Amino acid sequence: MAKNVTTAFVCSECGATSPRWLGRCPSCGKFNTMAEEAVGNEQPSVQKRSVYSLPKAKPLSQVVYEKYSRTPSGISEFDTVLGGGIVAGSLVLLGGNPGIGKSTLLTQIAAHLSLTRKTLYFSAEESCSQVKMRANRLNLNGDNLLIVNDTCIDGLENELDGVEFCVIDSIQAVYTEELTSSAGSVGQVRECATKLMRIAKSRGITFFIIGHVTKEGALAGPKVLEHIMDTVLYFEGENQENFRILRAVKNRFGNVSEVGVFEMAGDGLHAVTDYSGIFLSESRGEEAGCAVTPAQTGNRCMNVEIQTLISRTAFGQPRRMSLGVDYNKLTLLLAVLEKRCNLRFSSEDVYVNVMGGIKLNEPATDLALCAALASAYFDKPIDKYTAAFGEVGLTGEVRAVQYAEKRVQECVKMGFKRVLLPAKNMKTVAKYADKVSVVPILYLSTMIKTLFGENRKNESAE
Ligand code: TYD
Ligand code: MG
Repeated sequence: MAKNVTTAFVCSECGATSPRWLGRCPSCGKFNTMAEEAVGNEQPSVQKRSVYSLPKAKPLSQVVYEKYSRTPSGISEFDTVLGGGIVAGSLVLLGGNPGIGKSTLLTQIAAHLSLTRKTLYFSAEESCSQVKMRANRLNLNGDNLLIVNDTCIDGLENELDGVEFCVIDSIQAVYTEELTSSAGSVGQVRECATKLMRIAKSRGITFFIIGHVTKEGALAGPKVLEHIMDTVLYFEGENQENFRILRAVKNRFGNVSEVGVFEMAGDGLHAVTDYSGIFLSESRGEEAGCAVTPAQTGNRCMNVEIQTLISRTAFGQPRRMSLGVDYNKLTLLLAVLEKRCNLRFSSEDVYVNVMGGIKLNEPATDLALCAALASAYFDKPIDKYTAAFGEVGLTGEVRAVQYAEKRVQECVKMGFKRVLLPAKNMKTVAKYADKVSVVPILYLSTMIKTLFGENRKNESAE
């Protein structure tokens, strides 16, 4: 079949084709979008079918609902994220930065599955002995786990007799001979994934596919893989930190609001079931510049500490740096604090870090970030039993957020004594008033008065 197939370069944005590679698409003018694809007399991915063979349409009510059979992976947090276990014949993409622990997680799962089902680990990145070394480190008995080390997936189908689960490590390292481009290019990644999808759907084999995230945070190529997959999971966290968060961004067999928390230890990844308090520092409440917010990640609420540091700019432009919080959000909130509350940051360098390497991307964390910045500015610590949440608008108004009740509940559980929250969320949390002091905040300046009792830095008062 390979002989009939020729290749062309297709623009991933507009679909224009060209016989050779071009840096810029002549049709839509976008740069770096031309990727090699197989085209030819026999299109490998499209089977010709007569229009007359279309099955008869029937009312939705007559469709028989088949329940998916799910297999436990051996790691409860992983099952939760998948929506209750592994669905047979599905394609699961696990994305994440290099070194985050993708191979570790899937080796653990593959070893567990191989105890009862035939499981194959297709390692394109590491040799068999490297995988064996990892398995030893994880104290895994790999007696039943089949392993093959190759980079070309054209022969994979012949190895799959009786196999029910297959791990591909990684999609960027494998190639098919149908394309001449090198492994990891958009065309190769897409073609290989399509091949795997055809095998998965025709033979009912479940594939776990590892994909590295590029610098921009997307999987190789502009989202080339996500539409082919049934489930897309991302593994997040900083490499230096021990905690990792597994998040589903797409799931055809469950909802995407579930997250799993893992801890990397000397003997592999362990699910963390008691995650309260892991994103808080021990010296909380002693130093200025820190604030705690109950952050909603997936369908879980966890108290997370935001730390900020302010130092006088030596010369030139003041520096802003943020880890775990969007950079634009930080500059925006600094501008609001400056204009609405009269805190001057124009000659201060500002650094922000979120504990535990977790990424906060919901607007409800705005108020705590402002509180941390103000605390650093006044050089006054916020007491360790105070938490804050709420969205901050450009007018300095604190706006209502979702899940207010859940957030307050988490603070009560963690022993917090005071929660600052948007005034408009007060109704839903009134019932907690006897357990924790809930302070309604209408404007950012009210929050600053409540926490620091002043609106101006002493020495900088005009
Ligand atoms: P790995 O799973 O190879 O990452 P990925 O496949 O995502 O690139 O491993 C990531 C890191 O985890 C590696 O730097 C070593 C560390 N590690 C541990 O701390 N404990 C362990 O038991 C293992 C196997 C790895
Ligand atoms: Mg790896």
